[in-house]
Amino acid sequence: MPKVTIDGHEIEVDAGTSILNAARKIGGALVPPTMCYYSKLKGSGGKCRTCLVKVVAQSAANPRPMPKLQASCSTPVADGMVVQNLTSPEVLDARKGIVEFLLLNHPLDCPICDQAGECDLQDLAYVHGLSASRNDFPRRTFETIDIGERIELNRNRCILCYRCVYTANQVAGARVHGVLGRGDHAEIGTYIRSSLDSEMSGNVIDVCPVGALTDKTARFESRVWFLKPMDVHCTCDKCSGKAVAWMRGEQVVRVTARRDAYGEVEGWICDSCRFERKDKAAWTFEAPRRVERNSVIGQNHYTGLRQLLAVTEKHIAARAAVSAADEAAGGATGYGADPAALISG
Ligand code: SF4
Ligand code: FES
Repeated sequence: MPKVTIDGHEIEVDAGTSILNAARKIGGALVPPTMCYYSKLKGSGGKCRTCLVKVVAQSAANPRPMPKLQASCSTPVADGMVVQNLTSPEVLDARKGIVEFLLLNHPLDCPICDQAGECDLQDLAYVHGLSASRNDFPRRTFETIDIGERIELNRNRCILCYRCVYTANQVAGARVHGVLGRGDHAEIGTYIRSSLDSEMSGNVIDVCPVGALTDKTARFESRVWFLKPMDVHCTCDKCSGKAVAWMRGEQVVRVTARRDAYGEVEGWICDSCRFERKDKAAWTFEAPRRVERNSVIGQNHYTGLRQLLAVTEKHIAARAAVSAADEAAGGATGYGADPAALISG
């Protein structure tokens, strides 16, 4: 089993494991963020570049660094590989650039977006983004497309991560939408304006990292942080029936799938459970849902994100100090040679 070192932490994983999944095995702040990879969707990843890391040694047999930053979601580990994520100023810089790039055409409409409070892009921008926009040209806008009675598509917000396309292909089993065009002409849309109405189509809402796909039956009902998420289940012949009911008092405002610490769906749910069971009596209540993600709903006003931010800032400061010392010594300190020392510091 190959051994890989990520930000000074060594772990043994199965051959073929990606750097990202090896980091997830270690857990904590060193796990690179993702905007397109989704472990349950075959072929996902490699689109957004959010998960870039620096490979400083390719393997024990070939200890040379990889010349460019690598997408950790699609780069397999090798025995003796050494990877930097938070300990690389290059990675942190690149991530800032990626956030800026993702926001080039993404409208800053968090105040009116239903995804606010549980939006991956909002969280990413909070930790890795710039505090001001340098964008002084108009963003791309698209005409509204009606994709059915239950799902709202806001194409202006789409970051072209392809997750919903894979979900429609692999889970809903009837894909009528996709990314049309390529390069800066790429856009999310439905072929011949068909609607998304298979029995599992609602899952596209849960996989969308931004507010491009939202639940029409719950839209504008409440800010997500005002609702109480509860683990619930029902007897359903189409899906596992295990879901989360988002409650306002006695009222079920919306139903979603259960999601893990990386925001990924634990088990897909059908559209009947998601859109039709809005009666409290239709569910058996288990317990309050503990949302593990770093977000407003997970940690109450970004407490977890602040910790991550602190870790990031600590590494940037430590790196700057090492770099300055290295410069003063004419390159003799070996800048970048020992990320583990910085981590433990
Ligand atoms: S609509 Fe959402 S899930 Fe689909 S490609 Fe756009 S951002 Fe990704
Ligand atoms: S998560 Fe790796 S490229 Fe998007």
